[in-house]
Amino acid sequence: MPRFDPHPERRVAVVAGASSGIGAATATALALAGHPVALGARRVGKCEELAATIRAGGGEALAHPLDVADPDSVKAFAAAAADALGPVEVVVSGAGDLSAGRLHELDTAEFLAQVQVHLVGAHRLVSHFVPQMVARRRGDIVFISSDTVPAPRSWTGAYVAAKNGVEGMARTMQMELEGTGVRASIVRPGPTATGMGMTWDAETTGAVLEDWAKWGHARHPYFLRPSDVAAVVAAVVATPRGAHLRLVEVQPEAPLEES
Ligand SMILES: NC(=O)c1ccc[n+]([C@@H]2O[C@H](COP(=O)([O-])OP(=O)(O)OC[C@H]3O[C@@H](n4cnc5c(N)ncnc54)[C@H](OP(=O)(O)O)[C@@H]3O)[C@@H](O)[C@H]2O)c1
Repeated sequence: MPRFDPHPERRVAVVAGASSGIGAATATALALAGHPVALGARRVGKCEELAATIRAGGGEALAHPLDVADPDSVKAFAAAAADALGPVEVVVSGAGDLSAGRLHELDTAEFLAQVQVHLVGAHRLVSHFVPQMVARRRGDIVFISSDTVPAPRSWTGAYVAAKNGVEGMARTMQMELEGTGVRASIVRPGPTATGMGMTWDAETTGAVLEDWAKWGHARHPYFLRPSDVAAVVAAVVATPRGAHLRLVEVQPEAPLEES
């Protein structure tokens, strides 16, 4: 007798932050793996373009506006996903942006905005989707964290604090969900080539990079591709029931040295 029923054939997934970068790549990877996907972000037009590509490839996809900082928006997104695609079995919490500034100089409103999007936003997804998963006795919620949790980076302290909160929340959920059949997982990417940080002005970018180099970050010039992180998320949710990839850190491999 297997200890767990296998994953159901139809596993509807929602991806928060699907208009760009890691979220967009994750929606694509999950669709390729056969998941119907609901794509959410504020730039719904970009989500719609990707959803159309997924549908053209034979997949099932819905795009819907989502602002994780707005409780009503999360509620509407969750309702639209369930109405269009059915009960949600997989949630990927990856919405976020990166503000730059040293903590003692940062306006508290800006600090709060980082916490709102990364941490409170993630909790909004938890409170909308996880109770139904517990009732069904199965499901996956994946939190996109950051390697800045074990190795903080200067000039991004609000982000670092928010991501530490995300991991604290996820690890507590792993305890609270034990025995429910619901898996809460952390995927912790290192540097990834996405839209993140691309809105900083040149002066800020220069100051930040100079400071990071002093602290020994960026040991080599290679970045992860969003598809690399997406492959990890897909592997986490595809792991057969009975095992749980609780925390996966993924880093770019260094370029090969001259032989
Ligand atoms: N890039 C890296 O080096 C790196 C490393 C570790 C972890 N991460 C994490 O990976 C996740 C994805 O970031 P990315 O690197 O892929 O950056 P990205 O390309 O800028 O994507 C960020 C996504 O989040 C969405 N988003 C931002 N604010 C939102 C809000 N209030 N409500 C809903 N969606 C929102 C954006 O969409 P809209 O603007 O359209 O809303 C976009 O789809 C983030 O959690 C980030 O912290 C990134």
